[in-house]
Amino acid sequence: MGEVVAAILCSHAPGIAAFPAPEAQREAVYRGFAEARAVLAAARPDAIVAVSCEHFVNFFVDNFPAFCIGVGTGYRGPVEDYLGIPQTEVPGEPALGRAMLETAFDGGVEPAFAEHLLLDHATSLPLHLLRPENDIPIVPLLQNCLVPPLPRLPRCYRLGQLVRQAIDAWPGRVALIGTGGLSHSPGAPEGGYIDTAFDQEFLRLLERGDGEAIAAIPDERLDRAGFGTWEIRQWVTVLGALPERKGRVLVYEPVQSWLTGCAVAVLE
Ligand SMILES: [Fe+2]
Repeated sequence: MGEVVAAILCSHAPGIAAFPAPEAQREAVYRGFAEARAVLAAARPDAIVAVSCEHFVNFFVDNFPAFCIGVGTGYRGPVEDYLGIPQTEVPGEPALGRAMLETAFDGGVEPAFAEHLLLDHATSLPLHLLRPENDIPIVPLLQNCLVPPLPRLPRCYRLGQLVRQAIDAWPGRVALIGTGGLSHSPGAPEGGYIDTAFDQEFLRLLERGDGEAIAAIPDERLDRAGFGTWEIRQWVTVLGALPERKGRVLVYEPVQSWLTGCAVAVLE
Protein backbone atom coordinates (compact mmCIF):
# COMPACT_ATOMS: atom_id res chain seq x y z
CA MET A 1 0.00 0.00 0.00
CA GLY A 2 1.21 3.48 -0.79
CA GLU A 3 1.59 6.28 1.64
CA VAL A 4 1.72 10.08 1.54
CA VAL A 5 4.87 10.65 3.55
CA ALA A 6 5.13 14.45 3.26
CA ALA A 7 3.09 17.38 1.99
CA ILE A 8 4.61 20.78 1.38
CA LEU A 9 2.80 23.90 0.25
CA CYS A 10 4.64 26.98 -0.89
CA SER A 11 4.74 30.08 -3.03
CA HIS A 12 6.70 29.96 -6.29
CA ALA A 13 7.20 33.66 -7.06
CA PRO A 14 10.14 33.99 -9.50
CA GLY A 15 11.45 36.85 -7.34
CA ILE A 16 12.35 34.35 -4.63
CA ALA A 17 15.23 33.25 -6.86
CA ALA A 18 15.75 36.25 -9.08
CA PHE A 19 14.97 39.55 -7.36
CA PRO A 20 16.46 41.31 -4.32
CA ALA A 21 14.45 41.70 -1.11
CA PRO A 22 15.01 43.09 2.38
CA GLU A 23 17.52 40.73 4.00
CA ALA A 24 15.31 39.81 6.98
CA GLN A 25 12.44 38.80 4.71
CA ARG A 26 14.67 36.93 2.28
CA GLU A 27 16.30 35.03 5.12
CA ALA A 28 12.95 34.17 6.69
CA VAL A 29 11.59 32.77 3.42
CA TYR A 30 14.75 30.77 2.73
CA ARG A 31 14.70 29.45 6.30
CA GLY A 32 11.13 28.27 5.71
CA PHE A 33 12.16 26.46 2.54
CA ALA A 34 15.16 24.92 4.34
CA GLU A 35 12.90 23.58 7.06
CA ALA A 36 10.56 22.10 4.47
CA ARG A 37 13.56 20.62 2.65
CA ALA A 38 14.51 18.77 5.85
CA VAL A 39 10.94 17.48 6.23
CA LEU A 40 11.04 16.16 2.66
CA ALA A 41 14.45 14.50 3.10
CA ALA A 42 13.39 12.83 6.36
CA ALA A 43 10.27 11.45 4.67
CA ARG A 44 12.39 9.53 2.07
CA PRO A 45 9.79 9.64 -0.72
CA ASP A 46 10.10 7.37 -3.77
CA ALA A 47 8.22 9.91 -5.87
CA ILE A 48 6.92 13.47 -5.72
CA VAL A 49 3.58 14.61 -7.10
CA ALA A 50 4.36 18.23 -7.99
CA VAL A 51 1.11 20.19 -8.23
CA SER A 52 1.71 23.51 -9.94
CA CYS A 53 0.19 25.64 -12.65
CA GLU A 54 0.63 26.54 -16.27
CA HIS A 55 2.14 29.92 -17.26
CA PHE A 56 1.94 29.67 -21.10
CA VAL A 57 4.96 27.37 -21.29
CA ASN A 58 3.17 24.19 -22.38
CA PHE A 59 -0.34 25.44 -23.16
CA PHE A 60 -1.83 28.57 -24.64
CA VAL A 61 -5.36 29.77 -25.33
CA ASP A 62 -5.67 27.52 -28.39
CA ASN A 63 -5.68 24.49 -26.09
CA PHE A 64 -5.77 24.97 -22.33
CA PRO A 65 -6.65 21.97 -20.17
CA ALA A 66 -8.07 22.52 -16.69
CA PHE A 67 -5.73 19.79 -15.42
CA CYS A 68 -2.83 17.97 -17.05
CA ILE A 69 -0.92 15.04 -15.54
CA GLY A 70 2.60 14.28 -16.73
CA VAL A 71 3.25 10.70 -17.81
CA GLY A 72 6.75 11.23 -19.18
CA THR A 73 10.08 9.75 -18.16
CA GLY A 74 11.70 13.14 -17.54
CA TYR A 75 11.04 16.89 -17.56
CA ARG A 76 13.44 19.73 -18.40
CA GLY A 77 13.43 23.04 -16.63
CA PRO A 78 13.36 25.75 -15.68
CA VAL A 79 12.75 27.45 -19.01
CA GLU A 80 13.59 30.88 -17.55
CA ASP A 81 17.34 31.69 -17.58
CA TYR A 82 16.85 34.77 -15.42
CA LEU A 83 16.03 32.64 -12.38
CA GLY A 84 19.68 31.64 -12.15
CA ILE A 85 18.62 28.05 -11.45
CA PRO A 86 20.64 25.53 -13.49
CA GLN A 87 18.56 23.88 -16.18
CA THR A 88 18.32 20.15 -15.64
CA GLU A 89 16.19 17.11 -16.37
CA VAL A 90 14.16 15.82 -13.45
CA PRO A 91 13.23 12.13 -13.77
CA GLY A 92 9.55 11.28 -14.22
CA GLU A 93 7.42 8.55 -12.65
CA PRO A 94 5.04 7.68 -15.50
CA ALA A 95 3.53 4.62 -13.78
CA LEU A 96 2.27 6.77 -10.91
CA GLY A 97 1.06 9.44 -13.36
CA ARG A 98 -0.94 6.82 -15.27
CA ALA A 99 -2.34 5.38 -12.04
CA MET A 100 -3.47 8.88 -11.07
CA LEU A 101 -5.16 9.29 -14.45
CA GLU A 102 -6.98 5.96 -14.26
CA THR A 103 -8.18 6.66 -10.73
CA ALA A 104 -9.30 10.16 -11.68
CA PHE A 105 -11.24 8.89 -14.71
CA ASP A 106 -12.89 6.22 -12.53
CA GLY A 107 -13.83 8.96 -10.06
CA GLY A 108 -15.43 11.25 -12.63
CA VAL A 109 -12.60 13.75 -13.30
CA GLU A 110 -10.81 13.56 -16.67
CA PRO A 111 -7.47 15.42 -16.65
CA ALA A 112 -5.46 15.80 -19.85
CA PHE A 113 -2.14 13.99 -19.95
CA ALA A 114 1.21 14.61 -21.63
CA GLU A 115 4.47 12.73 -22.04
CA HIS A 116 6.33 15.95 -22.77
CA LEU A 117 6.07 18.92 -20.42
CA LEU A 118 8.51 21.69 -19.71
CA LEU A 119 8.98 22.96 -16.19
CA ASP A 120 9.00 26.65 -15.34
CA HIS A 121 9.52 28.53 -12.08
CA ALA A 122 6.26 27.10 -10.69
CA THR A 123 7.83 23.65 -10.38
CA SER A 124 11.56 24.21 -10.79
CA LEU A 125 11.97 26.95 -8.20
CA PRO A 126 10.34 25.00 -5.34
CA LEU A 127 12.16 21.81 -6.38
CA HIS A 128 15.45 23.70 -6.45
CA LEU A 129 14.88 24.85 -2.88
CA LEU A 130 13.27 21.64 -1.59
CA ARG A 131 15.27 18.94 -3.40
CA PRO A 132 18.23 20.50 -5.25
CA GLU A 133 19.60 17.01 -6.00
CA ASN A 134 16.63 16.50 -8.37
CA ASP A 135 17.02 12.77 -7.77
CA ILE A 136 13.43 11.90 -6.85
CA PRO A 137 11.13 11.16 -9.82
CA ILE A 138 8.18 13.50 -10.17
CA VAL A 139 4.68 13.47 -11.56
CA PRO A 140 3.79 17.02 -12.62
CA LEU A 141 0.14 17.92 -12.17
CA LEU A 142 -0.53 21.24 -13.91
CA GLN A 143 -3.70 23.17 -13.16
CA ASN A 144 -5.12 26.11 -15.07
CA CYS A 145 -4.89 29.11 -12.72
CA LEU A 146 -4.44 31.62 -15.52
CA VAL A 147 -7.15 31.75 -18.20
CA PRO A 148 -10.81 31.57 -17.15
CA PRO A 149 -12.80 29.47 -16.92
CA LEU A 150 -10.62 27.94 -14.21
CA PRO A 151 -11.38 24.63 -12.54
CA ARG A 152 -13.52 25.44 -9.50
CA LEU A 153 -11.94 25.08 -6.09
CA PRO A 154 -14.19 22.15 -5.05
CA ARG A 155 -13.18 20.39 -8.29
CA CYS A 156 -9.50 20.78 -7.35
CA TYR A 157 -10.31 19.40 -3.90
CA ARG A 158 -12.06 16.42 -5.55
CA LEU A 159 -9.08 15.79 -7.81
CA GLY A 160 -6.89 15.79 -4.70
CA GLN A 161 -9.09 13.08 -3.17
CA LEU A 162 -8.62 10.98 -6.30
CA VAL A 163 -4.85 11.56 -6.33
CA ARG A 164 -4.83 10.25 -2.77
CA GLN A 165 -6.74 7.11 -3.82
CA ALA A 166 -4.17 6.47 -6.53
CA ILE A 167 -1.29 6.94 -4.09
CA ASP A 168 -2.93 4.64 -1.53
CA ALA A 169 -2.97 1.88 -4.15
CA TRP A 170 0.56 2.58 -5.43
CA PRO A 171 3.44 0.57 -3.95
CA GLY A 172 5.64 3.40 -2.73
CA ARG A 173 6.19 6.45 -0.58
CA VAL A 174 4.91 9.66 -2.14
CA ALA A 175 5.39 13.32 -1.25
CA LEU A 176 3.00 16.02 -2.40
CA ILE A 177 4.20 19.51 -3.22
CA GLY A 178 1.65 22.21 -4.06
CA THR A 179 2.92 25.58 -5.25
CA GLY A 180 1.41 29.00 -5.93
CA GLY A 181 0.00 32.14 -4.35
CA LEU A 182 -0.56 33.61 -1.96
CA SER A 183 -1.97 37.01 -2.88
CA HIS A 184 -0.32 38.73 -5.84
CA SER A 185 -1.15 40.34 -9.19
CA PRO A 186 2.02 40.24 -11.30
CA GLY A 187 1.94 42.53 -14.32
CA ALA A 188 -1.48 43.97 -13.46
CA PRO A 189 -2.05 47.68 -12.78
CA GLU A 190 -2.41 46.78 -9.11
CA GLY A 191 0.78 44.66 -9.26
CA GLY A 192 2.61 44.90 -5.96
CA TYR A 193 -0.59 44.93 -3.94
CA ILE A 194 -0.44 42.15 -1.34
CA ASP A 195 -3.67 41.35 0.51
CA THR A 196 -2.18 40.39 3.86
CA ALA A 197 -5.65 40.09 5.44
CA PHE A 198 -6.57 37.42 2.90
CA ASP A 199 -3.26 35.62 3.30
CA GLN A 200 -3.47 35.54 7.09
CA GLU A 201 -7.04 34.27 7.11
CA PHE A 202 -6.12 31.64 4.52
CA LEU A 203 -3.19 30.41 6.62
CA ARG A 204 -5.38 30.36 9.74
CA LEU A 205 -7.81 28.01 7.97
CA LEU A 206 -4.85 25.90 6.88
CA GLU A 207 -3.58 25.63 10.46
CA ARG A 208 -7.06 24.60 11.56
CA GLY A 209 -6.98 21.84 8.94
CA ASP A 210 -10.13 23.26 7.39
CA GLY A 211 -9.53 22.35 3.75
CA GLU A 212 -13.24 22.35 3.03
CA ALA A 213 -13.55 25.97 4.16
CA ILE A 214 -10.61 26.86 1.94
CA ALA A 215 -12.23 25.07 -1.01
CA ALA A 216 -15.38 27.13 -0.34
CA ILE A 217 -13.66 30.55 -0.58
CA PRO A 218 -15.73 32.52 -3.11
CA ASP A 219 -14.05 33.36 -6.41
CA GLU A 220 -14.69 37.06 -5.93
CA ARG A 221 -12.65 37.03 -2.70
CA LEU A 222 -9.72 35.58 -4.64
CA ASP A 223 -10.23 38.24 -7.34
CA ARG A 224 -10.00 40.99 -4.71
CA ALA A 225 -6.72 39.52 -3.42
CA GLY A 226 -5.27 39.64 -6.96
CA PHE A 227 -5.43 37.25 -9.90
CA GLY A 228 -2.24 35.46 -8.80
CA THR A 229 -4.25 34.32 -5.78
CA TRP A 230 -6.10 31.99 -8.17
CA GLU A 231 -3.03 29.77 -7.66
CA ILE A 232 -4.21 28.64 -4.24
CA ARG A 233 -5.84 25.90 -6.33
CA GLN A 234 -2.64 23.90 -5.84
CA TRP A 235 -2.99 24.16 -2.07
CA VAL A 236 -6.63 23.07 -2.38
CA THR A 237 -5.74 19.98 -4.44
CA VAL A 238 -3.15 18.89 -1.86
CA LEU A 239 -5.64 19.54 0.95
CA GLY A 240 -8.15 17.33 -0.85
CA ALA A 241 -5.59 14.53 -0.74
CA LEU A 242 -4.96 14.99 2.99
CA PRO A 243 -8.17 16.15 4.67
CA GLU A 244 -7.07 14.73 8.02
CA ARG A 245 -3.95 16.87 8.35
CA LYS A 246 -3.41 20.34 9.78
CA GLY A 247 -1.05 22.90 8.30
CA ARG A 248 2.08 24.11 10.07
CA VAL A 249 3.10 27.47 8.62
CA LEU A 250 6.89 27.72 8.48
CA VAL A 251 6.96 31.27 7.17
CA TYR A 252 4.74 34.02 5.84
CA GLU A 253 6.28 37.22 4.49
CA PRO A 254 4.55 39.77 2.27
CA VAL A 255 7.58 40.62 0.14
CA GLN A 256 6.98 43.82 -1.80
CA SER A 257 9.86 43.44 -4.25
CA TRP A 258 8.74 39.88 -5.01
CA LEU A 259 5.19 41.25 -5.50
CA THR A 260 3.82 38.32 -3.49
CA GLY A 261 2.58 37.16 -0.13
CA CYS A 262 5.12 34.34 0.28
CA ALA A 263 4.39 31.32 2.46
CA VAL A 264 5.83 27.88 3.10
CA ALA A 265 3.84 25.31 5.07
CA VAL A 266 3.75 21.58 5.73
CA LEU A 267 0.74 19.39 6.44
CA GLU A 268 1.16 17.05 9.38
FE1 LIG B 1 2.54 31.53 -10.69
